[in-house]
Amino acid sequence: MYNKLVRLEVMRNLGKEVNNFINSYLTPVEKIWQPTDFLPDPSAETFKYDVEELQTYAQEMDYALFVTLIGDCITEEALPSYESWIMGIDGVEQEKSSGWSQWVRSWTAEENRHGDLLNKYLYLCGRVNMREVEITTQYLIQDGFDIGTSMDPYRNFVYTSFQETATNISHRRVGSLAKQTGNTKLSRMCGVIAADEARHAKAYKHFVTRIFELDPSEMMLAFEDMMRKKIVMPAHLMRESGQKAGELWGHFSDAAQRAMVYTGQDYINILSDLLNDWKIEHISGLNEKAEKAQEYLMKLPGRLQKITDRIATPDLQYQFKWVKS
Ligand SMILES: [Fe+2]
Ligand SMILES: [Fe+2]
Repeated sequence: MYNKLVRLEVMRNLGKEVNNFINSYLTPVEKIWQPTDFLPDPSAETFKYDVEELQTYAQEMDYALFVTLIGDCITEEALPSYESWIMGIDGVEQEKSSGWSQWVRSWTAEENRHGDLLNKYLYLCGRVNMREVEITTQYLIQDGFDIGTSMDPYRNFVYTSFQETATNISHRRVGSLAKQTGNTKLSRMCGVIAADEARHAKAYKHFVTRIFELDPSEMMLAFEDMMRKKIVMPAHLMRESGQKAGELWGHFSDAAQRAMVYTGQDYINILSDLLNDWKIEHISGLNEKAEKAQEYLMKLPGRLQKITDRIATPDLQYQFKWVKS
């Protein structure tokens, strides 16, 4: 499918820059926020009051928005799937303590705080059937995912560039919608998570930029292939108790669309941003096949726009087991 030896060589070269990547795009452990910074302190006198306040705001949240927040938390909690997948990419050698495996560990360590914070929030908020959330999470990790990248680093970095941007948008929107109803504490939690995602997106986009410099035709073909397959979300196999893998996904994505947290328009906007960031239009020195891929990619936002304009916002009648009735 692709020339693995060239991929390994490119990854080896880029691997020399991993320390720079970590310094530029990640934050040292003792300087970065921790979930506890944003949660009520059980040893404080105000704890009961703080939890009550948190619960009141959670009760008032719009149903579709609340469900989206829960699904976002579960998506974050399936981090073991993502880490093990990325660890397996060609050129990421786990037994070596330096290089790409160090990037993956450091990135995972930052990501791990997201599910941790949201899970504790949901536990405290009193509106969630945590057992059902836990069942969905356990299933999601057990079911894994297939994101169509194989173990190709180029395809995987396209995927993560896209995905980190999508999670940035999603957390940011939940945060600003929460803020509109005065729920400033939840808004701040989502805001700090979104800021992490933005840094991560920048990092993965930078990796792709570097690969475009080293192996432009193959990078272009990998980008095209991912967009032809469409980027599936990491939680696409989501289910509730009693369901088959993937059965819940459509309902969750309808909720996110309905709450205006993540829509078809966002998909197109992310693609357009990637085309701009990677200056796809101006990349030269491509072979014939890659030139065709470049042409396809440049026309894709326009084509997707025509389809998206015809899609109506879904009605949401589905009752999630996650939410206490
Ligand atoms: Fe995250
Ligand atoms: Fe992320």
